[in-house]
Amino acid sequence: MTGSVGAPAERREGREKVSGTARYAGEFHFPGRAQAWPVPAGVARGRVTAVDTAVALAVPGVLAVLTHENAPRLAEPDDPTLALLQDTRVPHRGWFVALVVAETLEAARAGAAAVRVAYDAEEHDVTLTASHPGVYVPEEANGGHPAVREQGDPDGAFAASAARVDVAYRVPPLHNHPMEPHTSTARWEDGRLTVHTSSQGTGAVRAVLAKLFGLPEERIVVTAEHVGGGFGSKGTPRPDVVLAAMAARETGRPVTVALPRRCLPAVVGHRAPTLHRLRLGAGADGRLASLTHEVTTYTSRIKEFVEQAAVPARVMYAAPHSRTVHRVAALDVPSPSWMRAPGEAPGMYALESALDELATELGMDPVELRVRNEPDVEPDSGRPFSSRHLVECLREGARRFGWAGRDPRPGVRREGPLLLGTGVAAATYPVMVGPSTATARALPDGSFLVRINATDIGTGARTVLAQVGADALGVPLERVRIEVGSTELPSAPLAGGSSGTASWGWAVHDACAGLARRPAGQGLDHRADTTGAADAESGFARHAFGAHFAEVAVDTVTGEVRVGRLLGVYAAGRILNARTARSQFVGGMTMGLGMALTEGSTMDAAFGDFTESDLASYHVPVHADVAEIEAHWLDEEDSRLNPMGSKGIGEIGIVGTAAAIGNAVHHATGVRLRELPLTPDRVL
Ligand code: MOS
Repeated sequence: MTGSVGAPAERREGREKVSGTARYAGEFHFPGRAQAWPVPAGVARGRVTAVDTAVALAVPGVLAVLTHENAPRLAEPDDPTLALLQDTRVPHRGWFVALVVAETLEAARAGAAAVRVAYDAEEHDVTLTASHPGVYVPEEANGGHPAVREQGDPDGAFAASAARVDVAYRVPPLHNHPMEPHTSTARWEDGRLTVHTSSQGTGAVRAVLAKLFGLPEERIVVTAEHVGGGFGSKGTPRPDVVLAAMAARETGRPVTVALPRRCLPAVVGHRAPTLHRLRLGAGADGRLASLTHEVTTYTSRIKEFVEQAAVPARVMYAAPHSRTVHRVAALDVPSPSWMRAPGEAPGMYALESALDELATELGMDPVELRVRNEPDVEPDSGRPFSSRHLVECLREGARRFGWAGRDPRPGVRREGPLLLGTGVAAATYPVMVGPSTATARALPDGSFLVRINATDIGTGARTVLAQVGADALGVPLERVRIEVGSTELPSAPLAGGSSGTASWGWAVHDACAGLARRPAGQGLDHRADTTGAADAESGFARHAFGAHFAEVAVDTVTGEVRVGRLLGVYAAGRILNARTARSQFVGGMTMGLGMALTEGSTMDAAFGDFTESDLASYHVPVHADVAEIEAHWLDEEDSRLNPMGSKGIGEIGIVGTAAAIGNAVHHATGVRLRELPLTPDRVL
């Protein structure tokens, strides 16, 4: 071992990024490259009856206007959100009904503004309520989870409990809004398609393009060398890549489609709103007898997507009687999709807030309440945990935060107009892993080249994989070169589900270890195909855990909530790079801070549209919003994961943060707010 793994190695592409030389998908300046601007539908439901493109085509520089009448015919995609410009149907406001291609971005934008679209509008319905007549229980929630699970007699046990909490929470629609909007540059040459795109996984992009355009995959290359964030919204191909490929084929020019920020909420997925009802019944000792978590959410008319927000309640606490339910209504809304910790982020907000309410009801410390309900095995499945150090995270967090001696009384700490409080919440995120392939090659200069189609979406994947490779080869980190981000490389899964490093790292480890084991003279290349599956079938429940602590000051005059301190402690297996891991945890917590205090989208019932569609109105946290943010981790050893012993770390940071902040706001004010975000109008 050379000890690369675990070291705080700097990002390999860090200098390129901060110096502006790292090339993103919109920055491939091919000769003759055209730009495009989409035209979003102006009704929430209906049909396009006519598109007048004459004025747009007369705008200087405009090359073409694609509509359902003249766009290339595509094969039917598995993902209905990619059936673009194929028919007249408008399934939601913001659905693209035309694309203007021009010599410059300015001309494309002016052309898009000049396209006149006539509609036959129909009544729309975009308002989710728990009692909506369209609500149904789906076959399953996302991730293949059963929609409903029930053990024992949750209603009877709840009725018989000494302490009871029966509460409802609401999490609003949330938007991923990565720094780099969804962008693709496409070019056709001799029947071959090359696409530079901003995606969490180019393999899926290539597969979808092959199907849509009827091409063998060998004739398509998709690269994603640098990606300015995705948070789930780039986990599947989005309209930009399909539109760019269509426009490039139609015009015979390379074409870049960079989606305008204001288009993103409607077409790249969002976190669907969730309505939660929780019923917790416990004995006077705090032990849960009954746990019910029922979630109602929405999906679009064209695609069923069911945020699996009751799933973490199947993992967290021992309760002999339990019920977890997902319900969904199909409305005339944009299709929701993956957003950082789908399921866990909204589900744990509700569950961990309800736990806090139960602690108040019992007069018990909320850390202690969680410790008392620690299960021996995963409650829903009965499987043993491969490792679970939630109690250690809570204890270590409490120690670092200075939780001991906390006055549990709410609403009693005043500093001028401020009310002060602290809160805690637990976090969990599943361990996932997928099949992956990597190759390792010894080069004549003594260095090694590792190749794998991993995607570095800003996480530092390149750097971490080089560390894994260096240790497996037994060489210093500088001697390992790595190539990622292209379908020309050995195939690997997307950067999603906090599974990237585990999946790719496994293959990189095996390729490098295999090369290192070769006797001299027996070849300079080694290829490894890992399934990632054998271990998952080992019968263990595998999850990362964490504990979040927050300190808030609530201004009784303005209603503003300021978070003075956020602290997270994680048990996520072996941490492979202390620097980039810290960034992931802190980034997740910052996103959780936004979820708690500022982020939230409002569906306008009359227009059928989100009212906050840009960063001027959809407020994400900035530096000044977080005074102090700390991420720590335990040295967790778990031999039942992968050769590195790592769990995923990209999502768990967001999971318990909003609940910890909400619980701190209750501790500060004595008022329990059950709808996010905790904006001043709600706080006052
Ligand atoms: Mo993440 S929402 O699994 O890309």
